[in-house]
Amino acid sequence: MSSPITSGESGNNPPVVISLGKKPSSSGAQPGVADAPKTAFIKTFGCQMNVHDSDRMRRMVRDAGYAEVQSYEEADLVVLNTCYVRENAVDRVKGHLGELNRLKREGRVKKVALTGCIGAASEANELQKTYSIDLILGTHNTYELAKFIGLPGTEETFTPELKGVEGSHSTFVTIMTGCNYQCSYCVVPSVRGRMVCRPLENVVDEVRRLVRSGTRYVTLLGQTVDAWRGADGRRFCDLLERISEEAPRVWFTTSHPSNMEDRTLRLIGERATLVKKLHLPVQSGSDRMLKAMHRGYKADRYQRKIEVFREMVPDGTLSTDLIVGHPGETEEDHEETLKLVEDCAFDSAYVFKYSPRRGTEAAELPETVPEGVAQRRFVEILRTVEKNAFRQNQSKVGGVEEIYIRHAHTGDGRAVGETWSGHAVHVPTTAAAGSYVTAKIESAGPHVLYAGEPSGPPR
Ligand code: 5AD
Ligand code: SF4
Repeated sequence: MSSPITSGESGNNPPVVISLGKKPSSSGAQPGVADAPKTAFIKTFGCQMNVHDSDRMRRMVRDAGYAEVQSYEEADLVVLNTCYVRENAVDRVKGHLGELNRLKREGRVKKVALTGCIGAASEANELQKTYSIDLILGTHNTYELAKFIGLPGTEETFTPELKGVEGSHSTFVTIMTGCNYQCSYCVVPSVRGRMVCRPLENVVDEVRRLVRSGTRYVTLLGQTVDAWRGADGRRFCDLLERISEEAPRVWFTTSHPSNMEDRTLRLIGERATLVKKLHLPVQSGSDRMLKAMHRGYKADRYQRKIEVFREMVPDGTLSTDLIVGHPGETEEDHEETLKLVEDCAFDSAYVFKYSPRRGTEAAELPETVPEGVAQRRFVEILRTVEKNAFRQNQSKVGGVEEIYIRHAHTGDGRAVGETWSGHAVHVPTTAAAGSYVTAKIESAGPHVLYAGEPSGPPR
């Protein structure tokens, strides 16, 4: 997935809207009319886990006979699949709930379900006091949506199989859920629980099935994918190697620096089917901050990993997550982060202003960083990332690349693709999503490359 430099959502996790089924014809659904088809709209906030969970809810809702609509106004059932990782994510959801309150009063929306990470937090019950919410589900019991919409849903239909979506050219496959780390600032362990790894054979079977059904791009998913452990001491690298033999194009996210093994980096460099991009969140360049955050590594160890990556995968792209303004962060800490950002020369980064989260250790710390200071540091880091990214992207101009079409053109004749080194490319082609074209890179910005007309037809 492309990794724009952003101040918004979590790493590699742009906000995504997912809708359900088919849009009714103009003579079709009128919510409130007795015999009108049932309609639903799922809105997804946050990370790829949520995108994936929404895909699976979409399948359930389709099975229950709902049709897709594109707006709240047309929907009988609205599902907000939410993110809890930063306060602004919660604020956004509150905005949507306010709008849904109004639509429910007007009788346009009938039911609202709140799912995902807010659903798993105690804050959901508080929201229910202010907003009209018919169903709250956490990340562990999302399958109960089935019952709510009249399907004979059981836990088995959703959770243990963790299925990707068949027939899609590009699919997520969850290999682990939860997280065993306890980063000072992070709510994930409390809402997603401890790490649970899916057995290797189970993952392999699913990938085979997906590839047979037409999937051409598999993304292995987990909060700390590289912490995956299997039977007989098997580790993430073993799983990745197997999957790289089963699927024609493979990526994985998100990794933790403490779990990233050199042999995994070597495999990325060696295996033709692995996309040569690595998302490795560092969070800070200051050892003092890394310690306060309980990240479990020092800056120089992170940098050594990056050196190995650059050596093993010379044409690869590297992205990261950074938090500015964690309690106690001094100007010196910030300078160290700036230096690390320069030294690692990230191809993109997700930079976040620290957001205090109830129940986390950092939220109790007294030495808060003033908003103005955090904002300045945030801009300084973004600019540094952008400068490096721009320079690196410029160096790709003139090269000929094989480009995987991620999103077919939407009318302007320009599709969005990805090179094998993980660069996002705009390319003038009508090629379908899931196909490949070969084209020359003609120009570059800090976030994206621009290709010329492809040579030859798509494959
Ligand atoms: N404040 C700001 N950023 C956070 N992240 C996680 N928790 C917080 C928080 N409380 C960021 C981290 C993580 C990414 C998914 O979100 O950088 O890697
Ligand atoms: Fe949160 Fe840290 Fe786990 Fe990532 S590794 S999900 S930041 S606790």
